[in-house]
Amino acid sequence: MRTVTVNASRVYNIEIECGILDHVGEVASKVIKPCSAAILTDTNVGPLYAERLEASLISAGYSPIRFTIAAGEQSKSAESYLSFLNFLASHQITRSDCIFALGGGVVGDLAGFVAATYLRGIRFVQIPTTLLAMVDSSVGGKTAIDLPSGKNLVGAFYQPSLVLCDCETLSTLPREVFTDGCAEVIKYGIINDRPLFEKLKNPICDQIEEVIERCVADKRDLVNAYERDVGVRQLLNLGHTAAHSIETLSDFAISHGKAVAMGMAIISRTATKLGYCPEEDTAEILSMLKNYNLPTECEFSARELAEIALSDKKRSGGKINLIVPFGIGNSQIHELGVDKLESFFSAGL
Ligand SMILES: NC(=O)c1ccc[n+]([C@@H]2O[C@H](COP(=O)([O-])OP(=O)(O)OC[C@H]3O[C@@H](n4cnc5c(N)ncnc54)[C@H](O)[C@@H]3O)[C@@H](O)[C@H]2O)c1
Ligand SMILES: [Zn+2]
Repeated sequence: MRTVTVNASRVYNIEIECGILDHVGEVASKVIKPCSAAILTDTNVGPLYAERLEASLISAGYSPIRFTIAAGEQSKSAESYLSFLNFLASHQITRSDCIFALGGGVVGDLAGFVAATYLRGIRFVQIPTTLLAMVDSSVGGKTAIDLPSGKNLVGAFYQPSLVLCDCETLSTLPREVFTDGCAEVIKYGIINDRPLFEKLKNPICDQIEEVIERCVADKRDLVNAYERDVGVRQLLNLGHTAAHSIETLSDFAISHGKAVAMGMAIISRTATKLGYCPEEDTAEILSMLKNYNLPTECEFSARELAEIALSDKKRSGGKINLIVPFGIGNSQIHELGVDKLESFFSAGL
């Protein structure tokens, strides 16, 4: 078992081990006394893994109950939020009980926001089952639901009590969803972890526990000092300014991971054109993305990308912060006048 300890407003462990799903009860009971365990899962993950989770919880003395949402982003909604709250209340879940989130980022974000707000906060355990959820959404304490006018518009910063990553669950993940997660993994390498980037030149599946451990430790270190979106945490947005525009312009037909890959490709090419990033590093970034079947070209114009980005919430005053690789493992925050954004994108297209 690999353990990464996060020292946030709550101190908790992220445990990474193939097959840990069958030991969740035992591992969780060291942190949370056996109690009622409200499992949130979705219609894809529940049938695959919820029975094993329940059996493990029961054997450790927990009393599990299960609530299942439809798989997909549309379930990160106010309706699901209220339904799950009502489910908890109707089962007399109290502050000494606990929520277990079994699924991808959608389940994790929704479960976390419910945990943050039900009875003004009850404990929750994350059991992420997508690569993205393991390396990204279960670390950092952001929880949220969507509104019809935009994603993640309602949420809270709220830390789990424990995160358990069972790499074996990744074997049932649709290939495209796994590939999406790889974009975020590669991102950590480009931000500040060149050794991770080098490791990714070998097949990720042969070293998955180690890769997940490195990514969560990297994210932990980037968010440790700041639980909110300031300072070095911004580095996590590498590739994401263009990515958000690409997702929006494609009406979300282009997945988040693919959009992030395109965004990282654009910004790396721009960085090289402007003389910030050595040409060979950008070439390596592009070939890494291609090796993981991720796209590096985008069909939208610099003007389209810039227009959407500038209507985004992250714009402040006449400046925008972009994350720019000055080399693999050395990305930095770069402040840019908003009037320069279009030409910045244009250089990388
Ligand atoms: N909180 C954060 O810091 C943070 C960071 C990044 C992303 N997010 C959020 O995460 C969400 C995306 O997460 P995601 O990519 O995990 O999406 P997801 O939860 O929708 O999962 C993707 C698909 O895979 C299925 N699935 C999950 N695990 C499976 C498994 N082991 N086997 C078979 N199928 C499985 C799901 O049912 C779903 O259909 C978005 O809502 C995003 O906003 C949050
Ligand atoms: Zn992302």
